[in-house]
Amino acid sequence: MPNMKSTLVALLFVLHTVSAAKSLWLDTTPQSPMPYALKKGRGIALGGGNTFPVTGNSSGQAFCVLHTNAAGSYSTNVGLFPHVHKKTYENFYAVKGRVQLWGQNLDTFLANTSEQETRILSQGDIGAIPWNTIHTFTLLEPDTQLTGVLVPGGFEEFFFNMQMSPTPNPGTLPGAGGFDISELAKWDVYPQLNFTARRDVVNGKAGGQGRWYNGANTLPGKSPTAPIWVAKNYGPKFLHEETEGGRRYQIVTPFVTGLETNGTFSQGTITISPFLSASGSGGETKAKTVKSTVATAFMVEEGQLEVAVDGYDEPASLIDGDLVFVPANTSFSYVAKAEFTKFMYVTGGGNGIDKQLMNKARSWNSAFYPSGAGRPPMMRI
Ligand SMILES: *[C@@H]1O[C@H](CO)[C@@H](O)[C@H](O)[C@H]1NC(C)=O
Ligand SMILES: *[C@@H]1O[C@H](CO)[C@@H](O)[C@H](O)[C@H]1NC(C)=O
Ligand SMILES: *[C@@H]1O[C@H](CO)[C@@H](O)[C@H](O)[C@H]1NC(C)=O
Ligand SMILES: *[C@@H]1O[C@H](CO)[C@@H](O)[C@H](O)[C@H]1NC(C)=O
Ligand SMILES: *[C@@H]1O[C@H](CO)[C@@H](O)[C@H](O)[C@H]1NC(C)=O
Repeated sequence: MPNMKSTLVALLFVLHTVSAAKSLWLDTTPQSPMPYALKKGRGIALGGGNTFPVTGNSSGQAFCVLHTNAAGSYSTNVGLFPHVHKKTYENFYAVKGRVQLWGQNLDTFLANTSEQETRILSQGDIGAIPWNTIHTFTLLEPDTQLTGVLVPGGFEEFFFNMQMSPTPNPGTLPGAGGFDISELAKWDVYPQLNFTARRDVVNGKAGGQGRWYNGANTLPGKSPTAPIWVAKNYGPKFLHEETEGGRRYQIVTPFVTGLETNGTFSQGTITISPFLSASGSGGETKAKTVKSTVATAFMVEEGQLEVAVDGYDEPASLIDGDLVFVPANTSFSYVAKAEFTKFMYVTGGGNGIDKQLMNKARSWNSAFYPSGAGRPPMMRI
């Protein structure tokens, strides 16, 4: 008996040590949902500059995040044959460099009753491609990062299978590996070879009623039947002011909400201030814990964000390019350690923490929050 007892004590000690050392940081995307953080560039790599920091497996099928870091050039033809997804919603976000995206609703394309739209996405601009929308894209600059969000998760299995498939036979499509056209439907890919990408861009846009850098970009609301374009900071903005336990600001700029995605996901950015103490500098105030019934991912773009997750002793401190994933129904908190910290969010189900913030926010017409170093110099007193 003493033996067994000491073994048990030793085991408990080991378990305690293991749990105390539990870190959010992983080397790569896990194969089942759990809280995790990845440094910039980490994730399951696929070659061709493609990295998957969030997959269907890692998010409980909520969404997939795909970074493409590659060289583009203005003279290249579109990188991929035009196609439609019937079950997958796909957002194209330019993180650096420039990306050109084209889109048009399939039904109205076939009926010749809509206009093809295209935008040149610079850093911070997004094009959202709802279901049943023909799309194709190309990278335009030598150092471009396109971050795609595909919903639901699991679509990425197509990319992995495509890469493993044999060398193209005659008659296969460029960009489709060894698949021929008839095999693509089972992966939710429907080529639209009659679609010809227009080349008449002026000031970064052609087609579509939506404005671009020349005015407010509104979100369409329910059942969008065209691509959604939001130029950086030209979309709707909401200011959330927290006063309990410390004062801070968050500006939510949604790209798509549950309305545009029929409740399947949301994406946007949040610009957050550090806690403002009486002296105006960042204090040690504790951030309020948040929780939602859907998965959440943050990718930091500017500044420094500290994220603490229930069950993990050490918060993860994220800088630009780093990503954190929090599964559904898991409590977490986040705090900015630098002025004007900004991150891109994706939440599953359209009922995430962005919605919680916007429910208690006011409409706001500036990219800056009311006080702190993020203000433009001329507004300082
Ligand atoms: C997801 O999990 C399935 C089942 O384990 C596996 O076959 C597949 O390769 C995984 N996908 C990725 C992208 O890791
Ligand atoms: C499509 O509609 C446009 C006018 O909106 C017309 O100029 C064009 O000829 C039509 N194309 C076809 C194939 O019917
Ligand atoms: C392209 O258009 C032609 C002529 O209208 C039609 O016969 C053909 O089926 C279309 N191809 C596809 C892939 O939609
Ligand atoms: C929207 O989602 C509901 C279920 O939440 C589903 O019944 C409905 O068919 C969906 N509508 C569209 C247009 O996909
Ligand atoms: C999260 O909690 C909600 C409400 O309790 C539940 O309906 C949902 O299935 C949970 N989601 C996951 C992924 O466990």
